[in-house]
Formats: sequence, C-alpha cells, structure tokens
Amino acid sequence: MTTPASAQASQALRVVLGVAGGIAAYKAVELLRLLTESGHDVRVVPTRSALEFVGAPTWAALSGRPVTAEVWGDVHEVPHVRVGQQADLVVVAPATADLLARAAAGLADDLLTSTLLTTRAPVLLAPAMHTEMWQHPATQANVATLRKRGAVVLDPAVGRLTGADSGPGRLPEPQAIFAACLRLLAGPGPAAGTDLVGRHVVVSAGGTREHLDPVRFLGNRSSGRQGYALAETALARGARVTLVAANVALPDPAGAAVVRVVSAQQLRAAVLEAAADADAVVMAAAVADFRPAEQRDTKIKKSAGDPAPVALVRNPDVLAELAARPHDGQVVVGFAAETGDETGDVLSHGRAKLAAKGADLLVVNEVGHDRGFEGPDNAAVVLGADGTEVDVPHGPKEALADAVWDLVAARWRTEPSASPG
Ligand code: CTP
Repeated sequence: MTTPASAQASQALRVVLGVAGGIAAYKAVELLRLLTESGHDVRVVPTRSALEFVGAPTWAALSGRPVTAEVWGDVHEVPHVRVGQQADLVVVAPATADLLARAAAGLADDLLTSTLLTTRAPVLLAPAMHTEMWQHPATQANVATLRKRGAVVLDPAVGRLTGADSGPGRLPEPQAIFAACLRLLAGPGPAAGTDLVGRHVVVSAGGTREHLDPVRFLGNRSSGRQGYALAETALARGARVTLVAANVALPDPAGAAVVRVVSAQQLRAAVLEAAADADAVVMAAAVADFRPAEQRDTKIKKSAGDPAPVALVRNPDVLAELAARPHDGQVVVGFAAETGDETGDVLSHGRAKLAAKGADLLVVNEVGHDRGFEGPDNAAVVLGADGTEVDVPHGPKEALADAVWDLVAARWRTEPSASPG
C-alpha cells in the first residue's frame, strides 16, 4: 500500500532541487518549502539563468544550505561529483527546454548538469516552457531520450503561460510535483509498486453540475478527493491514468491526463472515449441522476413572476452503460454512497445497486452529514459481482484507493483476456 505522505515525510532524505532559468522558478520556492517542511534535507542547485529570476539569498535562506550554480566553489569538496552522488532524489523544477537539451546530450557545463550526470538517484524533471518549445520535435526527442534512460519527466500542465498565451507548458502545481517526489523517495517496494505498469486506467472524480441558467446549477457535495486519491495511487503503482474531473478544486496529480467536465453528459462523453482502450474504469464521481429539462441561456429573473416548478429529465447512467457494453478484460468499478433507511441497511442497498448496474466491483460507503464527502478519510466495503465482500477499515482515502487497485489487479490476474494496454 502507498505510505501516506505524512508517514513518508518523517524520514529526512537528501533532495537536490535543480532550478532552471524560467519564469516558473518562483514556484520552485513553494516546492522547496514543501520539501523542507516535511523534514527533507534540500540542496538547491540553480542554473545561472535561474538566478536571474530568483536570487541565491532566497534559496540559501529557505534551504539553510549554500547555493551556487558553479562548480568552482569549495573545489576541495569536489561538488560537481559529490552533490549528485549523495542525493536520494534529484528534482528539477522548472526544467526548461535548454536544460532538457543539455541533460539529454549529457553536457556538464554547470553544477546542475554535472549533478544530473553523476547521480544514480531517481531523477524527476518538471518541464515548463512555451507551448511551441514543448511541442518542438527537438524537445520531444530530448524528453523521449531522458525517459528511456529512466528519468521521470512530467507532462507540463495546460493553462495560462507568460504573457497572454495559454496552452501546454505550465509548470505542474508545486503540490503535485511534491507528491511525485514523495512517490520516488518511497523507492521500490510496495509503496512505489509497479503492478499497474502497462495498464491504462480511467478514473472519474468530483461531482457534476447541471445548470439551470448561466449562474445556477444543481450540484452535490463531492470534493473529488477519493477520485484524486485513486488517480495518485494508480500513478504511484505505474499506471497510465486518465482522470475525468467534474468541478474539482484540487491540484492535478502529476502525470495524469486530466479531462475537465461540468455536466453528467460531458462526463459520459469523456469517460466513454477514454474507456475505449482502458484496462479499468473507476466511477468515483458523483453523477447527477437528473438535469433540468430546460437550461436557459440567460439568467432567470425574479421580476419574471412566481417561478414555475423545475422540471427534471433523467441523465444517462454512465456506470450501467460501461458495464452493459462488451468490456472483455476491462474491470468496471462503481462507488455507492449510501445511507440506511426503512427499506434496508447500507450493504443491502449496495448489493441491490451492484446487481442493477452490472459492475464488477462496487465500493459501498456509508455517508452521513459528517462522513464520506470532503474529509481525508473513508471506510468502505467493496462488493464483487462474484459474491466477494472486502471490508476496508476507516483510514486515509489513499488506503481505500490502494485496496481498490489490489482488487482490480487481482481480477486482471484471473481474467485470461485482460491484456496490458
Ligand atoms: N453513476 C453513473 N451515472 C449516473 C449516476 C451514477 O455512472 N447517472 C455512477 C456513480 O459514478 C457511482 C455509481 O453509479 O459509481 C453509483 O452512484 P449512485 O449515485 O449511488 O447511484 P444511483 O444509481 O444514482 O442510485 P441512487 O438512487 O441511490 O442515487
């Protein structure tokens, strides 16, 4: 199981934080704080150009260590070799097009590139640059070379870049890079397993919104945390992850392909498209069962008189649709947030729902006003279509996510038609 970040953070490991010369260098300050505040010993190695953006005093004060871009200081300590040799992790954020090119070519013309050549620790590169530079065949070839050599190169986030431009090229959020650092620092073993390598998994997360007019909607309380925990843990175990996120305010998990949706119909389209070549689909999103029959293009005004009752129409049931279509070897997982009532307890509602929807697994958790939604913890019983019942005790949402992937992976092992995608 993935060790929770809080537990991993208690070990002081040596991290080299390389910073290349891009405007996103200021975001590396936040990453430095996350690393040091979680108890790691961080040495910042900027490039000369990075120091044009954020000066050495900032890095030195926040890391408590000397800072230089050069190999000429403290030469008796042979820093161009020692810094890399002694590291448990080298993370470069931002990694510019120039830094990626120098690293791919094996140049060693400053302390950071020397460190990248001498280290045998895991290397994590978080690129940030303009879209044109990222998409240029030269950069893509360099990224492919670095990945082939074992470096983890994150895909840049999509969004606003320097100036008025936007597109792929933004530095992933520091929280997401920090989470990727923790996964690599956890090292090989169950915490950073590889049992999902070669698998493509689709996770839906969050809660859909069904608009009445441009400003009002019918929504629900889902925060997306359980779905994001599923995506994070699948990434940590080596899967390729498509995350269909409905109205979630959490940072994108580094390395996931994130598709943003608002309504149930948009979520259905995104999930079905991604599911075409997926080995597993986990529907953790809270999908609205109904939407307003009419969605106005303009705001409904109270001056228009007493409101008419809101007529609702049924939304498609995405989980039932996934389960009903041929999906040989693909494991389909649903979630059911239930409350007991006069017609049955939580589990009997769960069993009925599993049968009705036809999924392979249904994660049933009891919800109340104080549990199951926004919090970091969850407890559940995972029901299998084959009659199995696995109790996952109360714990972090990551632990429940790992338990789900354990059960999914077990089904792949017993399904001869399942094939890594
Ligand atoms: N789900 C879905 N499409 C819908 C509604 C729900 O795919 N239109 C999925 C959810 O993502 C979840 C599972 O179905 O994985 C169960 O959701 P839930 O809301 O508990 O089920 P409902 O069928 O809506 O049942 P209920 O009447 O209890 O709300």
